[in-house]
Amino acid sequence: MFVTVVHLFLILVYNSIKWNGRSMFKFKNISKEYKGHFWEKKFVALDNVSLSVDEGEVVGFLGANGAGKTTSIKIIMNFISPTSGEIVFDKKLGNNTVERFSNIGFFPERPYFYPHLTGREFIGYLGQLNKVERSLIEKRLAFWAEKLRLTFALDRKIRSYSKGMLQRLGFISANIHDPKLIVLDEPLSGLDPVGRKEFKDTLKYLSENGKTIFFSSHIVSDIEEVCKKVIVLESGKLMYQGSISELIEKDSHTYLTIRVKINEQPAKDLYLKSQIFDQSQGIYEYEVEKRLQDKFLTEILKLGGNILFLGVINPTLEEIIYKIKN
Ligand SMILES: Nc1ncnc2c1ncn2[C@@H]1O[C@H](COP(=O)(O)OP(=O)(O)OP(=O)(O)O)[C@@H](O)[C@H]1O
Ligand SMILES: [Mg+2]
Repeated sequence: MFVTVVHLFLILVYNSIKWNGRSMFKFKNISKEYKGHFWEKKFVALDNVSLSVDEGEVVGFLGANGAGKTTSIKIIMNFISPTSGEIVFDKKLGNNTVERFSNIGFFPERPYFYPHLTGREFIGYLGQLNKVERSLIEKRLAFWAEKLRLTFALDRKIRSYSKGMLQRLGFISANIHDPKLIVLDEPLSGLDPVGRKEFKDTLKYLSENGKTIFFSSHIVSDIEEVCKKVIVLESGKLMYQGSISELIEKDSHTYLTIRVKINEQPAKDLYLKSQIFDQSQGIYEYEVEKRLQDKFLTEILKLGGNILFLGVINPTLEEIIYKIKN
C-alpha cells in the first residue's frame, strides 16, 4: 500500500516537472466567440481548442484564411480573452502579463510603424520600452540589421521603407529584448523568394539558439522547411498537432514527378498522368502516387528506361486538410 502511494506521488511529481519544464504554453479547451450587435448571431472563431507548444520547438501554425490563427495569437498575447477555457504559460515566461511581455517577442499580422521615425529610432524606442540597456540595443540592432541586410536603411525615415524592409524592421523589433518565446503572425507574407529564404534561415538560427518559435502561415512548404511540429486549424477547430513529416507522409496525395527516357510506355495503372517532355529524345514525365513509386520504378527499369529526374510534389494545405478529414 505504502509503495503504491509513493509510486503515485512520484508520478505526480514527475508529471508536474515534465509539464513545467517542457511546455512554453498550452491552450486548454479554448473557445472564442465574437459578438456583434445584439441582433447578430455570435461567431465561433475558436471551438474547444487544446494545443501545446514545448520549449525549444519551432511550431508552425497552419490554417486557411479565417481559420482562427490570429485570434489564437491575440489570446497568447492577452489582447483578447477566450470565451471559455484557459491558456497556461510556463513560469519561465513570468508570473503575469507584464512579466510575460518582456519574455515574448511578437510580430503582428498588420504591424504599425511610426513613419516619421528612422528605423534606428524606432528600434531604440521599443528597446527602451522593454527596458533594454542602450548599449545592448545598439549591439543587438547592429547584429540583426547585418543579418537581415537592413543596415543601409537604419537612418532613413520609416515612411521610405519598402514592404520587405518593414518586415525586417518588425522582425528586429520582436527580437530586440532577446525574448524566450517568439510569436509571429504570417511573418513570410509579402516577401520575395530571397526574403523568404533569409527569414527562414533566421528562424532556424533562433531555434538553434534555444528559442521557442510559434509562427502562422498558410503555406505548407514554408512550415515544412523550418518546423518539425505543426498545428493545423480549420474553421476554428483543431485538426492536427504533431510531426509535420508524419502528416505529409500520411497523405496519399503526396506524389512524385518522374522524368524518364523510354521507348515503351509503362502500364497505365502505375501512374496518374503522363506528358511528353521532349519528343525528339523520347523523354516523358509521369505523375506517380508515392505508394506506387517502387512498382513504377521497377517497371521502368524492366522496360530499359533511363530515370532522369525524380521530385516530390508536396500536398497543398487544402489537400492536407481534406486528408485529415477523411
Ligand atoms: N473582431 C472580430 N469580430 C468578429 N469576427 C471576427 C473578429 N476577428 C476575427 N473574426 C472572425 O473570426 C474568424 C477567424 O479570424 P482570424 O483573424 O483569427 O483568422 P486567421 O486564421 O488569422 O485568417 P487569415 O489567414 O485570413 O489571417 C474569421 O471568420 C473572422 O472573420
Ligand atoms: Mg490572420
